[in-house]
Amino acid sequence: PWKSIEPIGLDAIKQLTIAFQADTNPNKILLGEGVYRDDDGKPVVLKSIREAEKILYEKKLDHEYAPVTGVASFCKGSKKFAFDPKNQEQDDRIATVQTLSGTGSLRVAAAFLNKFLPKDTEVYFPDPTWGNHNSIFNDAGFNGRIKKYPYFDAKTGGLAADGFLAAIEKMPKGSVILLHACAHNPTGVDPTREVWKKVSKACKDRELVVFFDSAYQAFATGNEVDDAWAYRYFVEEDGHQVIVTQSYAKNFGLYGERTGALHVVTGSKQEATAVTSQLAVIIRAMYSSPPIFGARVVSTVLNDENLLKQWRVDVKEMADRIRKSREALVYELHQAGSKRDWSHITDQIGMFAFTGLTPEQVERLIKEQNIYMTKDGRMSISGLNTKNIKTVAQAIHKVTSE
Ligand code: LMR
Repeated sequence: PWKSIEPIGLDAIKQLTIAFQADTNPNKILLGEGVYRDDDGKPVVLKSIREAEKILYEKKLDHEYAPVTGVASFCKGSKKFAFDPKNQEQDDRIATVQTLSGTGSLRVAAAFLNKFLPKDTEVYFPDPTWGNHNSIFNDAGFNGRIKKYPYFDAKTGGLAADGFLAAIEKMPKGSVILLHACAHNPTGVDPTREVWKKVSKACKDRELVVFFDSAYQAFATGNEVDDAWAYRYFVEEDGHQVIVTQSYAKNFGLYGERTGALHVVTGSKQEATAVTSQLAVIIRAMYSSPPIFGARVVSTVLNDENLLKQWRVDVKEMADRIRKSREALVYELHQAGSKRDWSHITDQIGMFAFTGLTPEQVERLIKEQNIYMTKDGRMSISGLNTKNIKTVAQAIHKVTSE
Protein backbone atom coordinates (compact mmCIF):
# COMPACT_ATOMS: atom_id res chain seq x y z
CA PRO A 1 0.00 0.00 0.00
CA TRP A 2 2.98 2.38 0.30
CA LYS A 3 4.16 2.17 -3.34
CA SER A 4 2.78 5.54 -4.39
CA ILE A 5 4.18 7.40 -1.39
CA GLU A 6 6.72 10.08 -2.29
CA PRO A 7 9.41 11.14 0.17
CA ILE A 8 8.94 14.61 1.60
CA GLY A 9 11.27 17.04 3.38
CA LEU A 10 10.70 18.48 6.83
CA ASP A 11 10.22 22.21 7.35
CA ALA A 12 13.06 24.67 6.62
CA ILE A 13 14.35 24.82 10.22
CA LYS A 14 14.72 21.05 10.64
CA GLN A 15 16.10 20.62 7.09
CA LEU A 16 18.80 23.15 7.85
CA THR A 17 19.88 21.26 10.99
CA ILE A 18 20.09 18.06 8.93
CA ALA A 19 22.18 19.79 6.23
CA PHE A 20 24.47 21.24 8.92
CA GLN A 21 24.99 17.84 10.51
CA ALA A 22 25.94 16.39 7.11
CA ASP A 23 28.50 19.17 6.46
CA THR A 24 32.02 17.81 7.12
CA ASN A 25 33.74 21.21 7.26
CA PRO A 26 35.14 21.53 10.84
CA ASN A 27 34.62 25.31 10.78
CA LYS A 28 30.89 25.15 10.01
CA ILE A 29 28.64 27.43 12.09
CA LEU A 30 24.96 26.82 12.90
CA LEU A 31 22.74 29.87 13.35
CA GLY A 32 19.53 28.03 12.47
CA GLU A 33 17.38 26.18 14.95
CA GLY A 34 16.56 28.11 18.14
CA VAL A 35 18.59 26.26 20.74
CA TYR A 36 20.70 28.02 23.36
CA ARG A 37 24.47 27.49 23.31
CA ASP A 38 27.23 28.73 25.63
CA ASP A 39 30.30 30.63 24.48
CA ASP A 40 31.92 27.33 23.47
CA GLY A 41 28.95 26.48 21.29
CA LYS A 42 27.86 23.74 23.71
CA PRO A 43 24.35 22.96 25.00
CA VAL A 44 23.69 24.28 28.51
CA VAL A 45 22.05 22.59 31.49
CA LEU A 46 21.03 25.32 33.94
CA LYS A 47 22.37 25.13 37.51
CA SER A 48 18.83 25.21 38.90
CA ILE A 49 17.88 22.28 36.67
CA ARG A 50 20.88 20.20 37.79
CA GLU A 51 19.91 20.86 41.42
CA ALA A 52 16.31 19.83 40.74
CA GLU A 53 17.53 16.64 39.03
CA LYS A 54 19.57 15.74 42.13
CA ILE A 55 16.59 16.31 44.42
CA LEU A 56 14.42 14.11 42.20
CA TYR A 57 17.05 11.38 42.03
CA GLU A 58 17.29 11.27 45.82
CA LYS A 59 13.52 10.89 46.09
CA LYS A 60 13.66 7.54 44.26
CA LEU A 61 10.31 8.21 42.61
CA ASP A 62 8.39 5.60 40.63
CA HIS A 63 7.48 5.77 36.94
CA GLU A 64 3.73 5.42 37.14
CA TYR A 65 1.60 7.24 34.55
CA ALA A 66 0.88 10.88 35.20
CA PRO A 67 -2.81 11.77 35.15
CA VAL A 68 -4.01 12.42 31.56
CA THR A 69 -3.92 16.17 32.32
CA GLY A 70 -0.35 15.94 33.64
CA VAL A 71 1.61 16.18 36.89
CA ALA A 72 -0.66 18.18 39.24
CA SER A 73 2.08 20.21 40.97
CA PHE A 74 3.51 21.13 37.55
CA CYS A 75 0.13 22.37 36.28
CA LYS A 76 -0.42 24.41 39.45
CA GLY A 77 3.09 25.89 39.28
CA SER A 78 2.80 26.59 35.54
CA LYS A 79 -0.44 28.49 35.98
CA LYS A 80 1.13 30.66 38.66
CA PHE A 81 4.26 31.16 36.55
CA ALA A 82 2.24 32.18 33.50
CA PHE A 83 -0.52 34.29 35.04
CA ASP A 84 0.27 34.88 38.71
CA PRO A 85 -3.53 34.89 39.33
CA LYS A 86 -4.55 37.78 41.56
CA ASN A 87 -7.12 35.81 43.55
CA GLN A 88 -8.71 32.38 43.91
CA GLU A 89 -11.55 33.25 41.54
CA GLN A 90 -9.11 34.04 38.72
CA ASP A 91 -7.06 30.93 39.49
CA ASP A 92 -10.16 28.73 39.44
CA ARG A 93 -11.30 29.83 36.01
CA ILE A 94 -8.06 28.97 34.22
CA ALA A 95 -8.03 25.43 32.82
CA THR A 96 -4.45 24.10 32.72
CA VAL A 97 -3.10 20.84 31.33
CA GLN A 98 0.43 19.58 30.81
CA THR A 99 1.51 19.15 27.19
CA LEU A 100 4.41 17.97 25.03
CA SER A 101 6.23 21.31 25.11
CA GLY A 102 5.00 24.25 23.03
CA THR A 103 4.29 22.25 19.88
CA GLY A 104 2.20 19.70 21.76
CA SER A 105 0.34 22.51 23.48
CA LEU A 106 -0.41 24.17 20.15
CA ARG A 107 -1.57 20.86 18.70
CA VAL A 108 -3.95 20.10 21.56
CA ALA A 109 -5.24 23.69 21.56
CA ALA A 110 -5.81 23.60 17.78
CA ALA A 111 -7.73 20.31 18.10
CA PHE A 112 -9.81 21.84 20.89
CA LEU A 113 -10.59 24.95 18.81
CA ASN A 114 -11.44 22.86 15.76
CA LYS A 115 -13.81 20.74 17.82
CA PHE A 116 -15.66 23.51 19.63
CA LEU A 117 -15.63 26.63 17.43
CA PRO A 118 -18.01 27.04 14.46
CA LYS A 119 -16.73 25.05 11.48
CA ASP A 120 -16.03 28.16 9.37
CA THR A 121 -13.85 29.88 12.01
CA GLU A 122 -10.69 31.36 10.56
CA VAL A 123 -7.36 31.55 12.34
CA TYR A 124 -5.03 34.52 11.78
CA PHE A 125 -1.25 34.24 12.04
CA PRO A 126 1.28 37.08 11.98
CA ASP A 127 3.16 37.45 8.71
CA PRO A 128 5.70 35.95 9.12
CA THR A 129 5.33 33.39 11.89
CA TRP A 130 7.05 30.23 13.10
CA GLY A 131 6.73 27.78 10.17
CA ASN A 132 5.37 24.99 12.34
CA HIS A 133 2.26 27.00 13.26
CA ASN A 134 0.89 26.34 9.78
CA SER A 135 1.61 22.62 9.86
CA ILE A 136 0.12 22.20 13.33
CA PHE A 137 -3.13 24.00 12.54
CA ASN A 138 -3.42 22.31 9.15
CA ASP A 139 -3.09 18.90 10.73
CA ALA A 140 -5.64 19.83 13.38
CA GLY A 141 -8.25 20.57 10.70
CA PHE A 142 -7.81 24.27 9.92
CA ASN A 143 -6.64 23.57 6.37
CA GLY A 144 -7.94 26.36 4.12
CA ARG A 145 -8.97 28.50 7.08
CA ILE A 146 -5.54 29.92 7.94
CA LYS A 147 -5.03 33.62 7.15
CA LYS A 148 -2.24 36.12 7.73
CA TYR A 149 -2.16 39.59 9.21
CA PRO A 150 0.62 42.15 8.54
CA TYR A 151 3.18 42.16 11.33
CA PHE A 152 6.69 42.93 10.13
CA ASP A 153 7.75 46.06 8.27
CA ALA A 154 10.68 45.04 6.08
CA LYS A 155 11.56 48.69 5.42
CA THR A 156 12.16 49.58 9.06
CA GLY A 157 12.95 46.12 10.41
CA GLY A 158 10.26 46.85 13.04
CA LEU A 159 6.55 46.34 13.65
CA ALA A 160 3.96 47.17 10.99
CA ALA A 161 1.71 48.50 13.75
CA ASP A 162 -0.79 50.35 11.59
CA GLY A 163 -1.32 47.46 9.17
CA PHE A 164 -1.57 45.05 12.09
CA LEU A 165 -4.30 47.07 13.82
CA ALA A 166 -6.17 47.77 10.59
CA ALA A 167 -6.17 44.03 9.78
CA ILE A 168 -7.70 43.16 13.15
CA GLU A 169 -10.59 45.52 12.43
CA LYS A 170 -11.37 43.52 9.28
CA MET A 171 -11.22 40.05 10.82
CA PRO A 172 -14.58 38.26 10.92
CA LYS A 173 -16.06 38.31 14.43
CA GLY A 174 -15.15 35.26 16.45
CA SER A 175 -11.96 34.50 14.49
CA VAL A 176 -8.90 33.17 16.28
CA ILE A 177 -5.86 35.46 16.37
CA LEU A 178 -2.48 34.00 17.18
CA LEU A 179 -0.05 36.35 18.91
CA HIS A 180 3.49 35.69 20.12
CA ALA A 181 3.62 36.55 23.83
CA CYS A 182 7.18 37.86 23.55
CA ALA A 183 10.30 37.46 21.41
CA HIS A 184 8.35 37.01 18.19
CA ASN A 185 9.74 34.14 16.11
CA PRO A 186 11.21 34.69 13.50
CA THR A 187 11.44 38.50 13.60
CA GLY A 188 12.45 39.32 17.20
CA VAL A 189 10.05 42.27 16.94
CA ASP A 190 7.48 42.75 19.71
CA PRO A 191 4.76 45.39 20.03
CA THR A 192 5.38 48.10 22.62
CA ARG A 193 3.02 48.12 25.60
CA GLU A 194 1.13 51.01 24.04
CA VAL A 195 0.57 48.98 20.88
CA TRP A 196 -0.37 45.87 22.86
CA LYS A 197 -3.10 47.91 24.60
CA LYS A 198 -4.52 48.93 21.22
CA VAL A 199 -4.32 45.34 19.96
CA SER A 200 -6.18 44.14 23.04
CA LYS A 201 -8.94 46.69 22.51
CA ALA A 202 -9.22 45.94 18.78
CA CYS A 203 -9.46 42.19 19.48
CA LYS A 204 -12.16 42.87 22.06
CA ASP A 205 -14.16 44.92 19.54
CA ARG A 206 -14.00 42.05 17.02
CA GLU A 207 -14.80 39.46 19.74
CA LEU A 208 -11.75 37.48 18.70
CA VAL A 209 -10.50 34.33 20.40
CA VAL A 210 -7.04 35.47 21.47
CA PHE A 211 -4.34 32.85 21.41
CA PHE A 212 -0.88 33.60 22.82
CA ASP A 213 2.05 31.38 21.98
CA SER A 214 4.49 31.80 24.88
CA ALA A 215 7.75 30.04 24.06
CA TYR A 216 10.20 32.46 25.69
CA GLN A 217 8.88 33.63 29.08
CA ALA A 218 11.89 35.21 30.89
CA PHE A 219 14.19 34.25 28.03
CA ALA A 220 13.47 37.49 26.16
CA THR A 221 14.09 40.16 28.79
CA GLY A 222 15.50 38.00 31.59
CA ASN A 223 12.36 38.66 33.64
CA GLU A 224 9.34 36.36 33.71
CA VAL A 225 6.89 39.10 34.70
CA ASP A 226 7.83 41.44 31.84
CA ASP A 227 7.65 38.63 29.29
CA ALA A 228 4.14 37.67 30.45
CA TRP A 229 2.96 41.28 30.47
CA ALA A 230 0.96 41.18 27.24
CA TYR A 231 -1.39 38.30 27.96
CA ARG A 232 -1.73 39.23 31.63
CA TYR A 233 -2.83 42.68 30.46
CA PHE A 234 -5.35 41.18 28.00
CA VAL A 235 -6.85 39.08 30.81
CA GLU A 236 -6.69 41.49 33.72
CA GLU A 237 -7.49 44.79 32.00
CA ASP A 238 -9.75 43.81 29.11
CA GLY A 239 -11.26 40.55 30.36
CA HIS A 240 -10.10 38.44 27.40
CA GLN A 241 -10.47 34.70 27.85
CA VAL A 242 -7.13 33.96 26.25
CA ILE A 243 -5.49 30.68 25.39
CA VAL A 244 -1.79 30.43 26.28
CA THR A 245 0.52 27.73 24.99
CA GLN A 246 3.58 27.56 27.20
CA SER A 247 6.92 25.97 26.45
CA TYR A 248 9.73 25.20 28.90
CA ALA A 249 12.19 24.33 26.14
CA LYS A 250 14.16 27.59 26.01
CA ASN A 251 13.62 29.23 29.41
CA PHE A 252 14.36 26.06 31.41
CA GLY A 253 16.61 24.52 28.74
CA LEU A 254 14.43 21.41 28.65
CA TYR A 255 14.23 21.05 24.86
CA GLY A 256 14.20 17.26 24.53
CA GLU A 257 12.13 16.67 27.67
CA ARG A 258 9.07 18.04 25.86
CA THR A 259 7.70 19.99 28.80
CA GLY A 260 4.91 22.50 28.36
CA ALA A 261 1.44 23.55 29.38
CA LEU A 262 -1.81 24.71 27.83
CA HIS A 263 -3.92 27.27 29.65
CA VAL A 264 -7.46 28.23 28.68
CA VAL A 265 -8.91 31.18 30.56
CA THR A 266 -12.66 30.65 30.94
CA GLY A 267 -15.57 32.52 32.51
CA SER A 268 -16.02 30.46 35.67
CA LYS A 269 -14.78 27.54 37.72
CA GLN A 270 -17.48 25.32 36.18
CA GLU A 271 -16.40 26.27 32.65
CA ALA A 272 -12.77 25.58 33.52
CA THR A 273 -13.71 22.14 34.83
CA ALA A 274 -15.63 21.37 31.64
CA VAL A 275 -12.81 22.62 29.40
CA THR A 276 -10.23 20.60 31.33
CA SER A 277 -12.34 17.47 30.93
CA GLN A 278 -12.57 18.04 27.15
CA LEU A 279 -8.83 18.66 26.86
CA ALA A 280 -8.27 15.43 28.77
CA VAL A 281 -10.35 13.50 26.24
CA ILE A 282 -8.35 15.02 23.35
CA ILE A 283 -5.04 14.18 25.06
CA ARG A 284 -6.10 10.64 25.95
CA ALA A 285 -6.84 9.92 22.29
CA MET A 286 -3.67 11.65 21.07
CA TYR A 287 -0.94 10.33 23.39
CA SER A 288 -2.70 9.15 26.52
CA SER A 289 -0.71 11.12 29.08
CA PRO A 290 2.39 13.32 29.10
CA PRO A 291 5.95 12.37 30.12
CA ILE A 292 6.77 13.00 33.76
CA PHE A 293 10.47 13.84 34.07
CA GLY A 294 10.55 17.41 32.68
CA ALA A 295 7.34 18.25 34.53
CA ARG A 296 8.82 17.05 37.80
CA VAL A 297 11.97 19.11 37.19
CA VAL A 298 10.01 22.28 36.43
CA SER A 299 7.66 21.78 39.34
CA THR A 300 10.64 21.22 41.69
CA VAL A 301 12.14 24.54 40.56
CA LEU A 302 8.87 26.49 40.61
CA ASN A 303 7.92 25.25 44.07
CA ASP A 304 11.28 25.87 45.80
CA GLU A 305 12.16 29.51 46.62
CA ASN A 306 15.92 28.93 46.45
CA LEU A 307 15.83 27.02 43.20
CA LEU A 308 13.53 29.61 41.69
CA LYS A 309 16.03 32.32 42.66
CA GLN A 310 18.82 30.32 41.05
CA TRP A 311 16.72 29.79 37.92
CA ARG A 312 16.17 33.56 37.66
CA VAL A 313 19.94 34.02 37.70
CA ASP A 314 20.35 31.23 35.11
CA VAL A 315 17.78 32.58 32.68
CA LYS A 316 19.03 36.14 32.99
CA GLU A 317 22.51 34.95 32.15
CA MET A 318 21.16 33.49 28.88
CA ALA A 319 19.13 36.59 28.04
CA ASP A 320 22.12 38.85 28.79
CA ARG A 321 24.50 36.78 26.68
CA ILE A 322 22.10 37.01 23.74
CA ARG A 323 21.73 40.76 24.15
CA LYS A 324 25.51 41.21 24.30
CA SER A 325 25.96 39.01 21.23
CA ARG A 326 23.60 41.29 19.31
CA GLU A 327 25.71 44.31 20.24
CA ALA A 328 28.93 42.47 19.43
CA LEU A 329 27.61 41.39 16.03
CA VAL A 330 26.68 44.94 15.03
CA TYR A 331 30.07 46.16 16.27
CA GLU A 332 31.90 43.48 14.28
CA LEU A 333 29.85 44.19 11.15
CA HIS A 334 31.01 47.80 11.26
CA GLN A 335 34.57 46.68 12.08
CA ALA A 336 34.42 44.45 9.01
CA GLY A 337 33.66 47.59 6.98
CA SER A 338 29.89 47.39 6.60
CA LYS A 339 28.27 50.77 6.07
CA ARG A 340 24.75 49.40 6.46
CA ASP A 341 22.40 50.29 9.27
CA TRP A 342 22.24 47.14 11.41
CA SER A 343 20.48 48.76 14.38
CA HIS A 344 17.44 46.47 13.94
CA ILE A 345 19.64 43.63 15.23
CA THR A 346 20.02 45.31 18.63
CA ASP A 347 16.43 46.59 18.63
CA GLN A 348 15.05 43.08 18.17
CA ILE A 349 14.71 40.73 21.14
CA GLY A 350 14.93 37.06 22.03
CA MET A 351 16.53 34.08 20.34
CA PHE A 352 16.44 35.41 16.78
CA ALA A 353 17.49 38.35 14.65
CA PHE A 354 15.70 38.96 11.41
CA THR A 355 18.75 40.23 9.59
CA GLY A 356 17.22 41.37 6.32
CA LEU A 357 19.58 39.12 4.33
CA THR A 358 18.02 37.89 1.10
CA PRO A 359 17.61 34.16 0.32
CA GLU A 360 20.45 34.48 -2.22
CA GLN A 361 22.78 36.02 0.36
CA VAL A 362 21.94 33.28 2.86
CA GLU A 363 22.54 30.68 0.14
CA ARG A 364 26.02 32.13 -0.37
CA LEU A 365 26.74 32.09 3.38
CA ILE A 366 25.89 28.39 3.45
CA LYS A 367 27.70 27.39 0.24
CA GLU A 368 30.79 29.59 0.47
CA GLN A 369 31.29 29.99 4.22
CA ASN A 370 29.48 27.02 5.80
CA ILE A 371 27.40 29.40 7.93
CA TYR A 372 23.86 28.05 8.25
CA MET A 373 20.78 30.26 8.62
CA THR A 374 17.21 29.86 7.34
CA LYS A 375 16.54 31.42 3.92
CA ASP A 376 14.25 34.08 5.39
CA GLY A 377 17.37 35.69 6.92
CA ARG A 378 16.58 34.58 10.47
CA MET A 379 19.67 34.11 12.60
CA SER A 380 19.70 32.25 15.88
CA ILE A 381 21.79 34.68 17.93
CA SER A 382 22.72 32.09 20.53
CA GLY A 383 24.82 30.27 17.92
CA LEU A 384 27.19 33.27 17.97
CA ASN A 385 30.14 33.27 20.38
CA THR A 386 33.38 35.14 20.94
CA LYS A 387 35.23 32.66 18.69
CA ASN A 388 32.99 32.79 15.63
CA ILE A 389 31.46 36.26 15.68
CA LYS A 390 34.19 37.97 13.63
CA THR A 391 34.00 35.25 10.97
CA VAL A 392 30.22 35.59 10.81
CA ALA A 393 30.37 39.40 10.61
CA GLN A 394 32.99 39.33 7.86
CA ALA A 395 31.03 36.75 5.90
CA ILE A 396 27.81 38.78 6.19
CA HIS A 397 29.62 41.91 5.13
CA LYS A 398 31.05 40.04 2.13
CA VAL A 399 27.69 38.78 0.87
CA THR A 400 25.90 42.08 1.53
CA SER A 401 28.50 44.26 -0.16
CA GLU A 402 29.31 42.31 -3.34
C1 LMR B 1 12.96 27.45 16.15
O1 LMR B 1 12.11 28.20 15.70
O2 LMR B 1 14.06 27.27 15.60
C2 LMR B 1 12.69 26.73 17.43
O3 LMR B 1 11.43 27.07 17.92
C3 LMR B 1 12.91 25.28 17.31
C4 LMR B 1 11.89 24.59 16.46
O4 LMR B 1 11.36 23.56 16.90
O5 LMR B 1 11.62 25.01 15.34
